[in-house]
Amino acid sequence: MDCYLVEGGAKLSGTVQVNGSKNAALPILAVSLMTGGRCTFRNVPVIRDLQTQVKILNTLGIESQWDGHTVTTKVVDTYNSVAPYELVKTMRAGVCVLGPLLGMRGQATVSLPGGCVIGERPIDLHLKGLAALGAEIAFDQGNIHVKAPRGGLKGATIYLGGKFGSSVLATDNVMCAAVFAKGVTVIECAACEPEVVDLADCLNAMGAKITGAGSPRITIHGVKRLKGVDWSVIPDRIETATFLIAGAITQSPITIAGGRPDHQLAVLDVLRQMGVEVKRNGSKMTVVPGGRPKSAELATLPYPAFPTDVQSPMLALMAIANGTSIVTERIYPDRFMAAAEMKRLGANIAVSNGQAVIQGVERLQGAPVMASDLRCGAALVLAGLAAQGQTRVSRIYHVERGYERFEERLRKLGAKISRVSEESVEAAAGA
Ligand code: EPZ
Repeated sequence: MDCYLVEGGAKLSGTVQVNGSKNAALPILAVSLMTGGRCTFRNVPVIRDLQTQVKILNTLGIESQWDGHTVTTKVVDTYNSVAPYELVKTMRAGVCVLGPLLGMRGQATVSLPGGCVIGERPIDLHLKGLAALGAEIAFDQGNIHVKAPRGGLKGATIYLGGKFGSSVLATDNVMCAAVFAKGVTVIECAACEPEVVDLADCLNAMGAKITGAGSPRITIHGVKRLKGVDWSVIPDRIETATFLIAGAITQSPITIAGGRPDHQLAVLDVLRQMGVEVKRNGSKMTVVPGGRPKSAELATLPYPAFPTDVQSPMLALMAIANGTSIVTERIYPDRFMAAAEMKRLGANIAVSNGQAVIQGVERLQGAPVMASDLRCGAALVLAGLAAQGQTRVSRIYHVERGYERFEERLRKLGAKISRVSEESVEAAAGA
């Protein structure tokens, strides 16, 4: 197994180009199931989760070709509509084939996603929405089977809010299934994330009739069929935020290019509260460090509020801020594994009942730490950039699910980070 070795204290400089959004590309690649035509998807990040999604689609009869950051697809057969457990268990987002398959083929089987380190990953809202369109739902041996009624799916008005508010992938699944439903579907309390908007825009380019994406009310007028599409995925706003924090935590004026500043408003606001200005020039964002960051308070909430996926990276910055910060996690209340690892670096973080209180310290001290999910792993690398001495981040396969060539791109900015095998580190320690 490989790990990252990070030597803290380096100043960064230069520009990093943002990749396409993992969380837009995953549901967008699934629309290849909704047409008999060829599709071309551009700006697709070359990361493990998308490779898994391509494998899942392959088992469902979609042949894909990668060429750099472009994936082209064509339907070779439609006889299998069962997404394999072996693949879906490694990536819960595989559930996003449910709506496209049900809409296009009238049935689908996907394994019930279990929990994961950030908390329970239920899909009750997905199923509530699909059932409202007339789908019959059955469970058996950990699988969900959804089947359209003989006359096909029928449009409905569906309230899709849950105890944690809106659901991104539930909105995606219901929107996709509704594309072929007879009549009109209205999704109330829809997720407003930019990735939902990107999916709706892609479907409309294929001939769907969707309005309201990006607002809590999405309206879908059913159509008979969709044509193929040539679509470029939006930039990754979570990766953008991760690099902005890399600049802030090392007090370095780096530039992040190719992002969408309009997708970053909640993160930019918290950085501003912490004394970190970000200069905008078109789509480019340049960090303007202002000395040791100040403390801040935030709560993670559905878009456009502060994103839960940036919570762990922001903890790293707050760990060295001047003062006491408070982070309330309202999407995944258990998502504080990064805090436990940062304490090994000397951070002073107390977590209880979905809230972290962070007493900033002057300096973190490097130490071996372990990634538990992709955002936690990225956060530990950021903390290592600011720590004194060496930080070893293990289980970096988590990071590589969502960040393409992460250490290489940070190194290009001047970070002292390398990727080595755990064995070689142990051997050197033992020598
Ligand atoms: C998407 O997951 C993202 N993944 C997650 O990013 C992100 O953390 C999450 O949205 C929240 O923004 C992708 O887009 C592939 P949800 P999703 O349904 O759609 C509860 C990353 O790091 N809920 O919006 O699965 C759920 O437990 C990943 O890139 C139900 O109760 O999340 C959570 O508390 C991690 N019932 C809240 O809603 C349901 O049926 C929001 O979850 C569905 C969700």
